[in-house]
Amino acid sequence: MTIAARDLARELSTRVVGQSFAVREVAIALTKRLRGLPTGNILMIGSSGSGKTTLMRAVEDVLSRDQGTKELSTLVRLHANVLGQEAEQGRPGQLVLRALFDQARRDLGDAAGLPRLLDHTRNGIVFIDEVDKIRGRVGSEPNVRGIRAQESLLTLMENESVPFDIPEWAGGQRVELDSRGLLFVAAGAFEGLYESVYDRVTIGDDRGALQPVTVVEDGVVKEELPFRLRDWLRSEDLFDYGMSPQFLSRFEALVLFDDLGEQDLAQILLRAQDSGFNAARRYFESCGVELAISPAAVEKVAAVAARRKRIGARALREVFRQVIRPYELDPAEQAPGGVLMIDAEQVDEALGSGDD
Ligand SMILES: Nc1ncnc2c1ncn2[C@@H]1O[C@H](COP(=O)(O)OP(=O)(O)OP(=O)(O)O)[C@@H](O)[C@H]1O
Ligand SMILES: [Mg+2]
Repeated sequence: MTIAARDLARELSTRVVGQSFAVREVAIALTKRLRGLPTGNILMIGSSGSGKTTLMRAVEDVLSRDQGTKELSTLVRLHANVLGQEAEQGRPGQLVLRALFDQARRDLGDAAGLPRLLDHTRNGIVFIDEVDKIRGRVGSEPNVRGIRAQESLLTLMENESVPFDIPEWAGGQRVELDSRGLLFVAAGAFEGLYESVYDRVTIGDDRGALQPVTVVEDGVVKEELPFRLRDWLRSEDLFDYGMSPQFLSRFEALVLFDDLGEQDLAQILLRAQDSGFNAARRYFESCGVELAISPAAVEKVAAVAARRKRIGARALREVFRQVIRPYELDPAEQAPGGVLMIDAEQVDEALGSGDD
C-alpha cells in the first residue's frame, strides 16, 4: 500500500481549516514513516483553539480508517500530563511503549504474533498533546513532574535500547527495544510565550529589534508593530519557558500554527463536525427541524468570534450558542415549515448589532 504525502495532506485539509504549513509538515513526516523511512520529530506551537488537537485527531482517523494503513504503523495520542504522572511512578517510557503495544494489538488483531507487535511498538508514531504542561519550571518554581516527564521522553528519543515489560497476556517477559524508530509529534499552546517574546523584542534584551511600520487605515496614518511569533521565536525562549535544551534538540521541525482569521472561523463554523452549528443541526434534526444559516449570518458570527481573543475557534461555539439558544427549547414551534433559517437579523437580535 502506498501513501502519497499530497493525498494525505489533502485529506487532512478536509478536517483542518487553514494551517497548511502544519498539515504539510505532518503529512510528509507520516508518509516517510509509513514507508519505513527515517524522519525527524515535530514540535507544534499554536494558540489555544487554533487546531492542534484537531490535526492530531484527523491523522488518527485517517490512519485508523483502513486495515492497510494499520498494517503499516501504529499511532497513539497521549496527554503530556499523563506522562508527568507516570514519570513519578514508573520507569521512563513504559507508558508510551505500553500504549503502542496495546494499540498494535487492537490494530493487528489477536493473531498477530509477538515479533510483529514489538516491531510496531518500536516503530510507532507518538502524538503528545499539551506538551507545554510538562514544562520544567512554572514561574520561578521547578516543576518536578515536568522535568521527569521530559527526561523520560528524552530516554525514548535518544536510546538504542530501552527496557520494556511485555504485558502478561503476551508472555510477561522483559525485552530491550530499540526506540530510535519512534516518531514523536508534540503540540502545545505555550500560554504566555507570545507575550514573553514580544516583551523581549520591544522592552527587553532585544528592544529596538522590532521596528514599527506606518500603516494607513480608514484614512488615518498609524504606527504599528508587526509582531509575529514565528519571526522572532528562538530556542532560548523555549528554554526559558521550561523546556530543556536536550529535549528540544530532539525535535527537528518547529511548526508554528497561524492565528485563525474571520474567514477561517466562518469555514470552521460550517465545516467542522463538532462546530456549534453542526452540533445544533443534529439536535434540530432530531426534533424534525432542518437548521440552515445564511452566509451573512455566518460572517457576523465569525466576526464576533474573531474579536474574542485567546480562545481561537472555541469562541465560535460560545457565540453561536448565544444565537441559537432562543430556539432550542421548542424547535418545532419556532420553525412551522420544518425549516429554521438563521439570518443576519437573528444574529443581531441575539448579539446586538454592531458589537458583542
Ligand atoms: N484549524 C481548525 N480547523 C478546523 N476546526 C478547528 C480548527 N481550529 C480549531 N477548530 C475547532 O475548534 C475546536 C478547538 O480546536 P482544537 O481542540 O484543535 O484547539 P487546540 O489548538 O488543540 O487548542 P488548545 O491548545 O487549547 O488545546 C475544535 O473542536 C474544532 O471544532
Ligand atoms: Mg488541544
